[in-house]
Amino acid sequence: MDAPNKEFALAGSLEELKAKGRLVVHGRHRPILVIYDRGRVFALDNRCPHMGFPLERGGVEDGILTCHWHHARFDLASGCTFDLWADDVPTCPVEVRNGEVWVKTTFGHADPAAHWRQRLADGLAHDLGLVIAKAVHSQLAADVPPADIVRQVALFGARNRDGWGVGLTILTALANLLPALPNEEAYLALFHGARRVAADCDGEAPRRERAPLASRPDPAALNRWLRRWTNVRHREAAERTLLTAIASGSSPAVLTDALLAAETERAFADTGHSLDFINKAFECLDLIGWEHAATLLPTVVGQMLAARGADESTAWRQPVDLVALCQEAASELPELFATGRGAHGWSDHAALARELLDDDPARILNGLKAAIRTGAAPADLGRSLAYGAALRVARFGNANEHGDWEAAHHVFTYANAVHQMLKRIETINTDGHATAVLHGAMALYLTRYLNVPPARIPGEDGEQLDDLPADAETISATLLDAFDRQRQVDLAARLVARHLGLGHSPQSLIATLARAVLREDAGFHAYQMLEAGVRQFNGWGNTSEGRHILIAVTRYLAAHSPTERAALQTADIARRLMLGGELHREAAAL
Ligand code: FES
Repeated sequence: MDAPNKEFALAGSLEELKAKGRLVVHGRHRPILVIYDRGRVFALDNRCPHMGFPLERGGVEDGILTCHWHHARFDLASGCTFDLWADDVPTCPVEVRNGEVWVKTTFGHADPAAHWRQRLADGLAHDLGLVIAKAVHSQLAADVPPADIVRQVALFGARNRDGWGVGLTILTALANLLPALPNEEAYLALFHGARRVAADCDGEAPRRERAPLASRPDPAALNRWLRRWTNVRHREAAERTLLTAIASGSSPAVLTDALLAAETERAFADTGHSLDFINKAFECLDLIGWEHAATLLPTVVGQMLAARGADESTAWRQPVDLVALCQEAASELPELFATGRGAHGWSDHAALARELLDDDPARILNGLKAAIRTGAAPADLGRSLAYGAALRVARFGNANEHGDWEAAHHVFTYANAVHQMLKRIETINTDGHATAVLHGAMALYLTRYLNVPPARIPGEDGEQLDDLPADAETISATLLDAFDRQRQVDLAARLVARHLGLGHSPQSLIATLARAVLREDAGFHAYQMLEAGVRQFNGWGNTSEGRHILIAVTRYLAAHSPTERAALQTADIARRLMLGGELHREAAAL
């Protein structure tokens, strides 16, 4: 017979293999390395799983194959690596028949999705960027739904760290953007989210589960208790209370209500991060399924209780006691909302946003009260606050220090989170939660110096943009080129104004902005800014307000580009390896 079956290829005679020690089988399949060692024959993928170097050039000693590029070592019999960063080498069956060596030329895993799911688990557990990238790429290639990958990473992050962190926030923000992303950017988004979760969990103690109470108190009591435990920073009590609310079958809106009430016991806690993290935990559950609420939601409690409120800072107390002003306004909210409930169709969001940029805190609060009186619902206030905060970023003066971008960013992402949470609970009585808007309005007031002098919004006040390209593709390429260089904030903003002003597709612009962020070693804030901006833009569409929001996003991102792009290199290596690329040859050709 010619072969055991058509899947096998002849490597050579056993005598030849014994004489040479190793043979490489070429064909239409990947090159296969066949090794003779101490009376046994082994067959492995000839490409090192680390970066593709030919393993035929490696060394064999004591049953260990060593790749001679970065010196990863592998068990010859199984292909398993001793160096986790390198990943395992796929092996294939080999048979000796009548003095001939035949190898099976297919490497495929019986269940690729299950195999790469396990590899993602390994990569997350050991914080191995290349393994994570390969596992994400291969799961997508195996048609695993992105939501399944997000779920796996999110649950890993929730269980392997004592509390919600920036990694889970990045994962959720990028997962929210997935529907707007082309395939390559979707891969990068999932990779960045997963690697940041892994980095957050690296070296951390796993989370300890707590149990709900055995009783089922009514939601009002659970709300009161959660606020009480937040005030006295009693974490175990707060977690058990929240778990009890979940075990009682509370709806997402009721849980949002409870956590938002507890969160606003402090003003603008942890410069807004605390509320933003809570909002992201809710959004994560929307993505991965609310059946995981008991695993995910309590992870936000620790940071919520530990966060310092702005009420503890001097800026909020002097020269004007902003906390006292908020408390006074908050006491009027029930009556104001009762008055406004008779009015319908309030839609002065943009006008109110501009009032929120006033330089007098009392006037700002009066503007909010007037809006409520004339029919604005809490979610309307949140929308105005988010747009006002976006305008602050859009007009961020170039004379400010670079670090001041973060002050503008914090208010915007806080405002977006408040808006999203208020929308989530607009079906239940949320009047009291307008307090979060009052806090946001005061945080916005305190950043007024960032617009002195204000940057000009491109394309407005008679500014011509005709010096810029007109077709969408050239604008996109020029925008990416601007992100390649430092200090291109104004050019990038003008290009966005040009693109939108000409009526080109906002979706293609958003994809370009996402590409610009995903190729960088972006900071946590850049992902937040992009996602919050896209979400707010989607509410306005390609209106002047929508344009201001994307200009704000672009100016912030341009101010933080470029970076080393090391993570992109890892993702690119993984992608090329999984597509059969020979990186050592490509590197030599450079
Ligand atoms: S160790 Fe083999 S390519 Fe790096």
